[in-house]
Amino acid sequence: MKKNDSNIKKAIKYLNNNECIAIPTETVYGLAANAYSEMAVSKIYKLKKRPKNNPLIVHYYSLDDLKKDCEIDNSFRSFYNKFCPGPITFVLKLKKSSKISKIVTNQSNSLAIRFPNHRITRKLLKNINFPLAAPSANVSTSISPVSKKDVLDEFGHKIRFILDGGYSKIGLESTIINLIGKPQILRLGGTNSKTIYKLIGSLKKKKEKKIKIKVPGTNKLHYSPGIPMRLNAKINDKQEAFILIKKRKETSKNYFYLTKKNNLNEAARNLYKTLRKIKKKGYKKIAIEKIPKVDIGEAINDRIIRASKK
Ligand code: TXA
Ligand code: MG
Repeated sequence: MKKNDSNIKKAIKYLNNNECIAIPTETVYGLAANAYSEMAVSKIYKLKKRPKNNPLIVHYYSLDDLKKDCEIDNSFRSFYNKFCPGPITFVLKLKKSSKISKIVTNQSNSLAIRFPNHRITRKLLKNINFPLAAPSANVSTSISPVSKKDVLDEFGHKIRFILDGGYSKIGLESTIINLIGKPQILRLGGTNSKTIYKLIGSLKKKKEKKIKIKVPGTNKLHYSPGIPMRLNAKINDKQEAFILIKKRKETSKNYFYLTKKNNLNEAARNLYKTLRKIKKKGYKKIAIEKIPKVDIGEAINDRIIRASKK
């Protein structure tokens, strides 16, 4: 407990000095900096080698903090009450008076925001006077980190400080939903899409016009282990790492199970960790068993499809 508190203090010092540091969240680790400071957020882009036209998600502690930067309406409140804090990101209208750096939004008048549900990071956010811009703490297009060790793996000595919060409980990024105009899911993730659609169905907003919003970061190759990946595999050869979810009678050292009990949440939690492990072991190819497209299995499929793109 004491150790966490002294680490949070250290993190605050770095952030107040316009540095970027890694922070834990329930989805994946983030590379965080003061969202109001151009100097601080520029360091995120530089360290991550992120294209300048790819905007960042901003992380808040409370609704009161958010109101300084975004327009909020009743349908947003319904989502907030049901899902926050948690693994969901909202695209909202930016207020003209907001001090969010133009670099964060790529000059646009929308902002992606979220309220992470991680004890240590909530404590951190509570004790600073600015929200935190934070993309996943990996080099652009690489695998997202789910532990302090993974972040070190990505950036080595180039990162000034990593706030340790253990393994990320969900292990996949947040679900992104656009609330400007008719609500739409822009990226599948940690929040169940069925429960989101159920809430959308109960809102007046569903009659509004669909506004086209792009999610620049999901277009290209992403979440990539950097080696070819074959989906829906039933068999494999010994040279390939074989990622499985169903227990098999036979064993082999190239088998990597995502879950012990056929549990999709456990599989999601282990996906990035397993891809990283396979890459480290030096395999040149990956085969992955079919994963059911239900619940968080939808988001797992989304990520492995992207990871398999060349
Ligand atoms: O779980 C998460 O969302 C993690 C943790 C650290 O919070 N963050 C994360 O950030 O996944 P990032 O940058 O790796 O992915 C955010 C995605 C990018 O694809 C980006 O293009 C999109 O969100 N995005 C950011 N701002 C946007 C906006 N205003 N409109 C549409 N898409 C936006
Ligand atoms: Mg990312």
